[in-house]
Amino acid sequence: MRFEIVTIFPEFFTGFFENGILSRALAKGLVEIGVRDLRSFTHDRHRTVDDRPFGGGEGMVLKPEPLAEAFAAMGIAPKLLIALPDNAPTPEIEGGVPDSSAGSETGAIRPHVVLMSAQGRPFTQAIARELTTREHVVLVCGRYEGIDERINELYCDEEISIGDYVLSGGELAAAVMIDATMRLIPGVLGNQASSEFESFGAADAEIATTDAFPRSQHGAGGLLDYPHYTRPAEFGGLKAPEVLLNGDHLQIRRWRREQQLRKTLAYRPDLLEDAALSKEDRKILSAIRAEKQD
Ligand code: ADE
Repeated sequence: MRFEIVTIFPEFFTGFFENGILSRALAKGLVEIGVRDLRSFTHDRHRTVDDRPFGGGEGMVLKPEPLAEAFAAMGIAPKLLIALPDNAPTPEIEGGVPDSSAGSETGAIRPHVVLMSAQGRPFTQAIARELTTREHVVLVCGRYEGIDERINELYCDEEISIGDYVLSGGELAAAVMIDATMRLIPGVLGNQASSEFESFGAADAEIATTDAFPRSQHGAGGLLDYPHYTRPAEFGGLKAPEVLLNGDHLQIRRWRREQQLRKTLAYRPDLLEDAALSKEDRKILSAIRAEKQD
């Protein structure tokens, strides 16, 4: 899978690529990442990428021309060819201009272009999984007040937000999305089973009743994860829960399930509405709710 990042801060990503899992995935060739410096597509002395907003108001807007040139350099044509502006650069790719649909006459698959934006659809584990089915994903990082909307219309397939807050730019959001997505690509995690167990594919209730050794299920079926402990068995005057030390897998599984339900009820009760809950789960939840009323 290939990610291409368009940014005015290419150096932002340098350390990010050196991080454990991602650097191994890159070395193994499971993930490729390209970074395009937006300023390299400018032609003035000051390498200007932004301008004042039409209609007035605060801040600056990323200009359309350097972004359009960056897309052309990646071989990506505008989607709305009818609306092609006179000054839009023509992509220089072998075999001509790619189609705006999934497959083109040249056989090249059009990359999926995502604009990182606080206005986008909220990023979730399900979207991360969806992205792993794409061969090539382009992430456009906005800055300042955003990018000229015509670039969004002409080149972007969707806008994605990583949360209901405004970041100074899309770089952090792109890094978050790459991290969450690449770890779902088969072979990226050392132990493949760990991403399977985290996936949205298997319902929580199913996982909880398998004979397999209980594993972390963060994000699986919509419940929050249970707490984790490691050695030493006692730290800061607090003991790790006895049940985790005795090797009884059934008891461990039950304890972890109860912890998941407690955490989810406390922090994300909304997730319980869509989670796949067993009869046993519902009993546990009623008991927890009853405790609170005492
Ligand atoms: N750019 C600014 N804020 C953002 C957010 N919350 N998610 C994605 N991109 C952004």
